[in-house]
Amino acid sequence: MVKKAVIPAAGLGTRFLPATKVQPKEMLPIIDTPTIQYVVEEAVDSGIEDILIVTGKGKRAIEDHFDRNFELEAHLQEKNQEAWQDAIRRLADMANIHFIRQKEMNGLGDAIDHARHHTGDEPFVVLLGDTVIRSAIPVTRQLIDIYEQYGCSILGVETVPREKISRYGILGGNRISGHIMEVTDMIEKPSPEEAPSNFAIAARYILTPEIFRAIEETPRGKNNEIQITDALKILMHREKIIAYKFEGKRYDIGNKLDYLKTTIEFALEREEFAAPLTAFLREITGKRKGKTGAGSGPVNG
Ligand code: UTP
Repeated sequence: MVKKAVIPAAGLGTRFLPATKVQPKEMLPIIDTPTIQYVVEEAVDSGIEDILIVTGKGKRAIEDHFDRNFELEAHLQEKNQEAWQDAIRRLADMANIHFIRQKEMNGLGDAIDHARHHTGDEPFVVLLGDTVIRSAIPVTRQLIDIYEQYGCSILGVETVPREKISRYGILGGNRISGHIMEVTDMIEKPSPEEAPSNFAIAARYILTPEIFRAIEETPRGKNNEIQITDALKILMHREKIIAYKFEGKRYDIGNKLDYLKTTIEFALEREEFAAPLTAFLREITGKRKGKTGAGSGPVNG
């Protein structure tokens, strides 16, 4: 049974500077809801009751967001805004949320290693704190169902077009069905020619406790960090690993363009914004035809 979730949210978010100088990127709102709230809700909607969030320097806002705020609750009650009072209170009661600090940014593998004592000898799900996935059945639930079938580590994957293959960790192996593959090969950011498939690792994992031994043995890799993909390569030779192509759409808010696209897409689906926003977008895109953009800082994604 998978009962615990780990949400790494300690990264520096350098692709989103200067917004992330003092503010966690995981708290960047998609309209009015911080990204990490969607991630926590996905875990809770999947039946997870225990969540460990890996935070770091400058990430206090995440802890405060999932804590009670009695002053705000009292204020909302006074103003007869009970619906908001309930919504704010619910954030603190959704699950047992724990926090641990990653003191040095040593990569995703190291962030996950911080869960070692919390998860003990149980399998656990990992949800990246800067990535929302929307689907009819929560993706974490889909992964848990596959785990219950295979009893091994499960990597959530999506298929990526050929021209984007070189941005992802790509998996190769033996297809069990259109959606499931036993993993025998893993290449970080391959050229389309070297890629063994178009299955890309995508922000959700179920890992067995054996991953901690693999992380221990993983040398520093790209950016001098402990990369989870390198640890998974070690694990792959010891245990079965299944790749599962989930049903759902992924929104990575860690880079500015995808964040903007996500905000617009989510807003267009909200009744109060759909019509005025569509009209506004038509108006400004009409005016901008033929013009090119000018940035305000270094381009970093
Ligand atoms: P990213 O690689 O996208 O995050 O990690 P980053 O390092 O903050 O991004 P940039 O490249 O500097 O802009 C995906 C998730 O893993 C967490 C991040 O917080 C993010 O939610 N992470 C990453 C950690 O918790 N610790 C790390 O050392 C690295």
